[in-house]
Amino acid sequence: MSRDKTLIVANWKMNLNVGEASLYLHQLAKLVKSHRDVEVVLAPTALALQSLSLQVNSRQFKLAAQNFYWRDHGAFTGEISATQLRGVVQYALVGHSERRHIFHDSDKDIRAKVQAAVRNHIKPILCIGETAFERSEGETSDILHDQLVGGLANVTSEELEHVVIAYEPVWAIGTGKNATPADVVMAARAIRRQIKHLYGAGASEAIAVLYGGSVTADSAADYLAITEVDGLLVGGASLNAHDFNEIIKKAHKGSGVAKV
Ligand code: PGA
Repeated sequence: MSRDKTLIVANWKMNLNVGEASLYLHQLAKLVKSHRDVEVVLAPTALALQSLSLQVNSRQFKLAAQNFYWRDHGAFTGEISATQLRGVVQYALVGHSERRHIFHDSDKDIRAKVQAAVRNHIKPILCIGETAFERSEGETSDILHDQLVGGLANVTSEELEHVVIAYEPVWAIGTGKNATPADVVMAARAIRRQIKHLYGAGASEAIAVLYGGSVTADSAADYLAITEVDGLLVGGASLNAHDFNEIIKKAHKGSGVAKV
């Protein structure tokens, strides 16, 4: 992923039905003024992906899957593959903390999903982050290291160009307790250091790193001002088109938010 664009991703989780998702898209399309420097990505329920892919102006918004299974096809009742998502979505979340902690996605599953996404020309947004306990034990950078190494094993330098990393501290997701910009700077630097170690300085500078965790229109600008941060992954505050548009507005280069 190149860093020329700020990436603003809405993760609706298990909210909004197909009709509501369609109405939201209609509203957001009217509100958002397209800018070349911002890429807006919507991750609705899997049920709505097909219909939204037909409704969306793909130059205005991209779509993302919230989850998928790593095999391409076969006897896997209830699952959706990256092969089936190909052409419908441009991005997919991988390793979101709710997948890791509620559904027990292991590093092995996550690695296989990153591979499956890349193999199917879908850009994986690899989510990593420490729990409150790990943070209190001073283990944040070890956790980021392990989740990066675990998720990216087998990813070549060429494939890495299509990967986005999202730093999402588990304690900040859906809690209203957002990380301070200083926390995010530290984590984003640790991520880039690790990428440098694995893939070299060029890759470390080129990779897009997002922040996610209780982002609102009020806090968005503080994170977007961080040089090491290239965008946001937004849950709760993305559920209303007007609120989400306020966040998108902060990402435009002309919005007054300057990188520090
Ligand atoms: P939140 O969710 O903004 O509601 O904390 C973020 C996420 O889970 O990606």
